[in-house]
Amino acid sequence: MTEIPVITVDGPSGTGKGTLCSRISRGLGWRLLDSGALYRILALLAQRENIPVTEVAKVAGLVAARRPEVQFISAEGDEPVTVILDGTDVGALIRLEDCGSAASSLAAHGTVREALLEWQRSFQRSPGLVADGRDMGTVVFPDAELKVFLTANPRERAKRRYKQLKEKGIYVSFDDLVESIAERDRRDTQRILSPLKPADGAVEIDTSGSGRDDVFGQVAEIIRKRFDLSAVHT
Ligand code: DC
Repeated sequence: MTEIPVITVDGPSGTGKGTLCSRISRGLGWRLLDSGALYRILALLAQRENIPVTEVAKVAGLVAARRPEVQFISAEGDEPVTVILDGTDVGALIRLEDCGSAASSLAAHGTVREALLEWQRSFQRSPGLVADGRDMGTVVFPDAELKVFLTANPRERAKRRYKQLKEKGIYVSFDDLVESIAERDRRDTQRILSPLKPADGAVEIDTSGSGRDDVFGQVAEIIRKRFDLSAVHT
């Protein structure tokens, strides 16, 4: 066992990783890492400094040059995690589409993934860490005590995404959404760098058709057994 325990939760977007990680970190009183938010923050820093995302080495260098101070605060209920960058809540800002697409293009580069490696690992602090992402169990925390991989079929994830967009007053074609999610899955699972796949020994859970309480209940039970805990508070 590593000194400070880590639980990794990987999988594609729309599988409920964020909510699950928030609930686990709150239940255990452990720290939280939303690694996708770090990719988005890097995109935000580049935008602020007017560095185009195509200047990959320059953007990657911002991590060491700026040493951004980031803190994640797990949310109540199903609210998104609060993301504090150098003392300011940037959650809403980094979840805008432009940061998302810039983050996605940056994430395809080895230089960027390398620059984020130590930064991500620095979140492993006492008493434990719950890490949410795509390659937490395979690359960033290969020695994690518990690795979870969430899946859900593209239709189910499209339904969740459609609802989120509708709440923001954005209307899109449902069929187009299903197709774009399926296409993104193909890209993510087939890419050479850190392809999206379950880590060896990961517990795979298909969340299609399951409520968030259900998924949390299953994982909480595994945690109780694995860590010999009497209770994970809900
Ligand atoms: O989960 P998210 O949508 O906030 O992630 C933003 C982008 O970063 C997304 O394109 C996937 C990528 N990402 C990644 O490549 N590896 C991670 N560990 C987390 C996110």
